[in-house]
Amino acid sequence: MFPILPERPGDAAQIDMLLDLTFGSERTKKTVYRLREGVAHLKTLAFVVRDDSGKVLGSIRYWPVVIGEAAVPAIMLGPVAVHPDYQGQGIGRALIRHSLYAATRQGHRICILVGDKPYYEPFGFSNAADRGLEMPGWVERERFQLMELFAGALEGVTGVVGKAKPVRRRRAA
Ligand SMILES: CC(C)(COP(=O)(O)OP(=O)(O)OC[C@H]1O[C@@H](n2cnc3c(N)ncnc32)[C@H](O)[C@@H]1OP(=O)(O)O)[C@@H](O)C(=O)NCCC(=O)NCCS
Repeated sequence: MFPILPERPGDAAQIDMLLDLTFGSERTKKTVYRLREGVAHLKTLAFVVRDDSGKVLGSIRYWPVVIGEAAVPAIMLGPVAVHPDYQGQGIGRALIRHSLYAATRQGHRICILVGDKPYYEPFGFSNAADRGLEMPGWVERERFQLMELFAGALEGVTGVVGKAKPVRRRRAA
């Protein structure tokens, strides 16, 4: 078993390398990155798996987003990545389960993602376009998925997914 640990600020460079390795350096051209640009990921939902030397073997992050004209808050799962030498050992599933549980405990109500349907369906995700949601750019319809983390959270929620406002920190007086 690999323990799931909170991401540390010093992990960022290793995570970037892991994402380049698993998704390729063109990854930032995808529509999901338009929703991440200039917005910090949710630190309380960022987890990693390390080896004994501290090397990051797996990572999951989430971004805040809003849905529709009412700007209903939601979270966007991803990216999730596992080093190719360690794939197929349950790390990806453990990262997803652990973080979705944490998200629910933290009061998040809706989770969306763009990813492989066969991988995410068993967690409870279903098609988001069928529920009247749209992404702000091209994505393969069947890869756009969502899940309620709170029963009824999606009631009346439709529209285009948008970027959450960046959180501005106030300077100390
Ligand atoms: C996708 C990824 C995060 C899964 O992590 P992992 O630790 O290898 O996965 P797990 O060991 O938890 O699960 C393995 C199972 O998921 C399946 N699986 C892995 N990737 C899959 C995919 N893209 N689509 C469907 N099934 C997939 C495997 O076939 C395996 O099935 P089995 O248990 O029936 O044999 C990892 O393979 C990865 O980093 N891939 C490259 C980046 C990526 O594509 N990330 C996002 C996925 S949309």
